[in-house]
Amino acid sequence: MKAVQSSSPLPPPKRVSGQGAATGMRSLLRLLPFAKPYAWHFVGIFVLVVLYNLSSVLQPYLVKVAIDSDITGAHPNPHGLLVISAIYAASVVIGVGANMAQILLLQYAGQRVVRAIRMRLFTHMEQQSMSFFDQNSMGRLVTNVSSDTETVSQFFTQFFLSLVRDGLSIVMIIIAMLELNLRIGLESLLIVPIIFGISLAFRHSLKQAYQTTRTRLSNIVSFLAENLAGMRITQIFHQEERQGSVYNRLNEAHRQANVHEYGVSMFFNRTLEWLGNAAVASVVWFGGGSVLDHAIQFGVLYAFISYIRQFFQPINSITQQWNTLQSSMVAAERISRVLSEEPAIADTDTPLGPEVLARITGRVTFAGVTFAYKPGELVLVDLSFEIKPGAMIGFVGPTGAGKSSLVSLLTRFYEPQEGVITLDGHSLRDFSQADLHTLVGLLQQDVHLFTGSVLDNIRLFRPDISERVVLDAAQAVGAHDLIMRLPDGYNTRLYGKGANLSMGERQMLSFARVVALNPRILILDEATASLDSQTEALVSRGLAAVSANRTTLVIAHRLSTVRHADQIYVLERGRIIERGNHDQLVQQGGLYARLVAQSGIEASPGEPAAALPGRGEGKGVGALAVR
Ligand SMILES: Nc1ncnc2c1ncn2[C@@H]1O[C@H](COP(=O)(O)OP(=O)(O)O)[C@@H](O)[C@H]1O
Ligand SMILES: [Mg+2]
Repeated sequence: MKAVQSSSPLPPPKRVSGQGAATGMRSLLRLLPFAKPYAWHFVGIFVLVVLYNLSSVLQPYLVKVAIDSDITGAHPNPHGLLVISAIYAASVVIGVGANMAQILLLQYAGQRVVRAIRMRLFTHMEQQSMSFFDQNSMGRLVTNVSSDTETVSQFFTQFFLSLVRDGLSIVMIIIAMLELNLRIGLESLLIVPIIFGISLAFRHSLKQAYQTTRTRLSNIVSFLAENLAGMRITQIFHQEERQGSVYNRLNEAHRQANVHEYGVSMFFNRTLEWLGNAAVASVVWFGGGSVLDHAIQFGVLYAFISYIRQFFQPINSITQQWNTLQSSMVAAERISRVLSEEPAIADTDTPLGPEVLARITGRVTFAGVTFAYKPGELVLVDLSFEIKPGAMIGFVGPTGAGKSSLVSLLTRFYEPQEGVITLDGHSLRDFSQADLHTLVGLLQQDVHLFTGSVLDNIRLFRPDISERVVLDAAQAVGAHDLIMRLPDGYNTRLYGKGANLSMGERQMLSFARVVALNPRILILDEATASLDSQTEALVSRGLAAVSANRTTLVIAHRLSTVRHADQIYVLERGRIIERGNHDQLVQQGGLYARLVAQSGIEASPGEPAAALPGRGEGKGVGALAVR
């Protein structure tokens, strides 16, 4: 068994050290408030458990009374036998009823507690800023919400129960045995240290086996979550085999751990079972002798045999709960770690009110903005500029220059280390993030669609946006005809990020979405980069509608996309090195001019735009812009 473990390709699971156990316990206790609304349920469960235990302990005693007083007694008593049988039957009914009610109540309360924890985890993750998602892998978070909460649920549904039910039943059985016959009772208790010793001997292996299985299962879940999300890449780069073999290794490691766990636990259970039967045999031998010597009655012997049998079950069960406690502590610690993570970007207590929001025109300023993802590695350096309401600004520059980072600051996905970004003179920090994201819309190359209908994807499941608005938006960007060609029109269901649509179709939906949501400021981050020229021509019509009448920031790889912008900022290594309109920049003969020369578009003015947007192709739309 040991060999199986050490030959595994994965590192052994982290042991819970003394200190780790303490923090694990604290983490578990920190989850207790989730159970507070169900405090009375847990009291009810306790009462039901006591009732159930009483009936189980009473039963052997009733049989003993029947045997000693009514059957083998000096005056056999058929009537008394009937009464005892009736009481026995009633106690069984009460016991079974209490047990059923307790299970139902426990599941009711326990599952609600877990639902609350899951809900809290999810909403907490939703509040995190982007830096949180940079630091936590998606698979890890999926495991957190799914299997860690499941493990913690076992704490609430199994551990509590076992502690109360089994602990109580051990105590009650001991009391019953001592009551029945002090000497045999004390002798029987001799097996307690033996059971304890065996449990202790097995505890370590049981715990380790259990945790290895859990860790390896969560490795599988993380791997799957990341892999299914990245399946496109896997297939394009022919990584199926390599990924398959990694998965195979994880799977095999889990299988080995599982078999090992079952082996250890089987060995432990059978050892206890053997011990139980040996104990019964010795009671039969010694107790039987006492019956023959008339030292005790036969009924007492019977009751002892029953109690000894009953004794092992709760002890066994409590030892198993040790594992539940251990893994719950580990899971609770992971959950607490996520829950204790404060969102890096918090809303102000006094966000700007609706009167201010309604008057926002879309004037954006950056004043001395410096930003780094990691300390010391500056991505944006001392940026200052002002964008007039309704203007269109193009951002160009080499990959990694910081263009996407710049717009991430404007959506407040990240916060700059220095400087201030304002919207109509108000610092971004004075807006609530929800309001800010209503004001600032972001279109990226990678369109994210959710599982749901086309309609709901365009209005992002917001019931306050009517179907009429969605239809108008789709018509404005030229997506309506395309949507009507889909199998169910606006009710066509999209799956897995809209994989059943083409890139261009997804892009069109995202343009319709932006128009429907109607932000004051629109950011296009390489939004048309991956489209072929035919689709781009289609999309450019949509873009014209989208960019009209609002401040638009366009990041583009293709220079033809930005040549008609009011201003073009050229970024290099986090600095704006040139700014001006297309003609001015070409005349300056700097980086932009070199890029233009490389890309082969004509420098002469008046050349019809190859693609984007209204300002070139449809002057009418451009003229609508507020200036
Ligand atoms: N989430 C991130 N965490 C750490 N570094 C990042 C992150 N996103 C981008 N970067 C780094 O910041 C720099 C600028 O990236 P980016 O703004 O995406 O450039 P561009 O959009 O101009 O291609 C790059 O060096 C990139 O590696
Ligand atoms: Mg980018």
